Amino acid sequence: MNKKYLGLALFVSLFLFKTGYCQQSTVVNVGNITDVKIDQQKVTVKTTNATAEITVYTPSVIRVRMDRQFKADFSYAVVGKVLSTKTNISQTESEIVIATDSVKAVIQKKPFSIAFYTPEGILINEDEKGLTTTWVEQSVTTYKKMQEDEHFIGLGEKTGNLDRKGNGYTNWNSDVYGYSISQDPLYSTIPFYVGIHHNLNYGIFLDNTYQTDFNFGASNNRFSSFGARGGEMNYYFIYHKKLADIIASYTWLTGHMPLPPEWALGYQQNRYSYYPADEVLRIAHTLREKRIPADGITLDIHYMDKYQLFTWNKSRFPDPAGMNVELNKLGFKTTVIVDPGIKVEKGAKAYESGLKDDVYIKYTDGQYYTAQVWPGWCNFTDFTNPKGREWWRKQVKFFAESGVSGIWNDMNEFSTWGQKIPDNVLFNYDGTLTTNLQAHNVYGLQMARSSYEGALEQFKERPFVLSRSGYAGLQRYSALWTGDNRAEDDHMLQGVRLLNSLGISGVAFTGMDIGGFTGNPSTPLYIRWMELGAFIPYYRNHTALNTKAAEPWTFGEDALDIVRNYVSLRYEMLPYIYSTFYNATQNGMPVMRSLAIDYTFDSKILDAAYQNQFEFGDAFMVAPFESNKDYGKVYFPKGEWYELYSGAKEEGGTTKTIDLNINKLPVYVKGGSIIPMQSLIQSTAEQPTDTLTVHVYNGSKANSFVYYEDDGKSFNYQKGDFYKRSISLNPQKQIIVFDDAEGSYKSHFKYIKVMLHGFEQILALKLNGSQLKLEQGTYAFLGAAANTDPQGSAYQTESSPVRFVTIDNEQGKIQLEY
Ligand code: GLC
Repeated sequence: MNKKYLGLALFVSLFLFKTGYCQQSTVVNVGNITDVKIDQQKVTVKTTNATAEITVYTPSVIRVRMDRQFKADFSYAVVGKVLSTKTNISQTESEIVIATDSVKAVIQKKPFSIAFYTPEGILINEDEKGLTTTWVEQSVTTYKKMQEDEHFIGLGEKTGNLDRKGNGYTNWNSDVYGYSISQDPLYSTIPFYVGIHHNLNYGIFLDNTYQTDFNFGASNNRFSSFGARGGEMNYYFIYHKKLADIIASYTWLTGHMPLPPEWALGYQQNRYSYYPADEVLRIAHTLREKRIPADGITLDIHYMDKYQLFTWNKSRFPDPAGMNVELNKLGFKTTVIVDPGIKVEKGAKAYESGLKDDVYIKYTDGQYYTAQVWPGWCNFTDFTNPKGREWWRKQVKFFAESGVSGIWNDMNEFSTWGQKIPDNVLFNYDGTLTTNLQAHNVYGLQMARSSYEGALEQFKERPFVLSRSGYAGLQRYSALWTGDNRAEDDHMLQGVRLLNSLGISGVAFTGMDIGGFTGNPSTPLYIRWMELGAFIPYYRNHTALNTKAAEPWTFGEDALDIVRNYVSLRYEMLPYIYSTFYNATQNGMPVMRSLAIDYTFDSKILDAAYQNQFEFGDAFMVAPFESNKDYGKVYFPKGEWYELYSGAKEEGGTTKTIDLNINKLPVYVKGGSIIPMQSLIQSTAEQPTDTLTVHVYNGSKANSFVYYEDDGKSFNYQKGDFYKRSISLNPQKQIIVFDDAEGSYKSHFKYIKVMLHGFEQILALKLNGSQLKLEQGTYAFLGAAANTDPQGSAYQTESSPVRFVTIDNEQGKIQLEY
């Protein structure tokens, strides 16, 4: 190019850039507000380049929806509907203000930008004013100003630190066999996170099923951002003072988990794969003989005939229904794996019926999409098609007829050999035909949903459903486990963080492969992981095809004794655990809780040194460490703490280096805790004794616990057949109160043994005015098996000093004064 033309070209480019033409063709900003329409709880604005709707859902939940052209408003995640909410909306020349009792949104008109404030006017969150919301080709991103010392947590199943600051993440559900501890993305998508700064916290849920990307200050110090590769900008802003309330609002929006069957909270024995039927029964018998309490046996892909769905391999399992009856008699429930791929095989029953019902995914030209997975070339049910879901629900009958109790949805990202599903395969997406780009991230959710709804229709009792993949809202249908981890220490700890993050993101029922899926754990690692499992919502031991056996008796006698101690403790804790799950069904509070939930503004809990500590329900704090460590440093957040085994008191607001002993997992109890426990049982099919032991830990703050009991398996609780009461400790009034029991269910427990910890000065209690003398003794949390079985645990660790008394379990209010 000669000089003259070069000069002209430069001039033209500069002109285009200056005038914004260049910018417009590649990057489109939302622009200025040009028109405003105000309804009662909703503002609709037109901007230079888009339309936006800002809707008040509840006093604390505000939705922001924006697009260059709105399409149908549809969500697989959201079930919460706009609630009638007192809302004041006003506008001036320059801004629009939307105020509820809990939050105020201020929208600047030129250019459009939104900021959220507390009712007192303190800034919670604001758009980055220069960038606001921007489209780059089909992608849309909202940029938020990074506040001073702002931190971020949540975003579901994401590796890395609890504190996500300085990192970026992508959501694209992937099959990641033996993933690394910094890998991203993993199997599921939950585009919900919490920002924390200046003693404030807020939640943002980006409801968009395309690939989504989050940036929490990765390679920039200007903004945090969230965006999608297609579809609308569609996010919900949630503000409460407490993180627990943000989780409650988020799970109000995306739904609560159903009450699980109690057996699913017991120990589950699994491997890839147990077969034939005799081997399955041998495992079950050995668990009983070795007195390892257990409730579940899980069958991996080898139960099928050549991996074909809805078949049993008849030579390995000649009488599956008979086997399951026998397992049931032993107190076991069976969970079976299902994958989405249906083998293309002429004459095969399930395959043919899917063809007939036209449920398989096709390319744009109408040909079936076929890919390879376990059985060879497969077709895949379109679970985003109501017809596909209906077909799958009907197939679930096959399992009901064989006496199966749980469905384990695997490979539902969905995974195929090669892992490259073409963009142009089509999905029904509930009536709005779309491509893999939009449907991919919800496929797993819709498969889990179909299995759950099928099981509801076909099973006689409450089903258990597990899924590897998912999207926001998965908790309504299924538990989630974190796939193919490795038998390594850092995976155990990373697993803890994954589950804690999932808990913050609305999924309360979670698990990881205990012991590690790929590779073989060392004996100490196996022991540590199995101990930890007692404090993990879904307690399942699993390992891959060619690994060493990983049943509790395969690591030597010492390991067996220690593991028995912890599995037994799990079973004694079941009344506490079941009640904690009940709580999750009501308000979304996770069972396994990052310390960030209760101690959000204590910056120490984000410190990498303490980030693996977590609470199990309201009472316990668990401090997991690598299995080869001799000592570890524990942080005790503000408050009073007791070491579980010895009852020794620890002061809050301090750190302490503790000796680590392979026989006992570091566990602490929060002052004020109320922990109902039962006698040791070998499975939930067995009845405990008729005494409920309620441990009460002294503390300076009032505390309460909702105790919940029902038959643990049927749906009768939905008709009021449950037993529920609040148990509270009020140190100011010096009383322990069992409120009136609600519901028509008669508690199994005739007696309550009140077990006081840290009440050394108290010698008697007053019940309705009459004195009850307290007995003095010790209580050991480990070693219960040894009391009932001389072969039982050799490890009876320390016990803690207690005072106790047994009273009748009256339906009416029980007030104990001390
Ligand atoms: C996948 C699952 C794993 C299972 C295996 C065989 O890798 O994540 O849990 O054992 O498939 O079905």
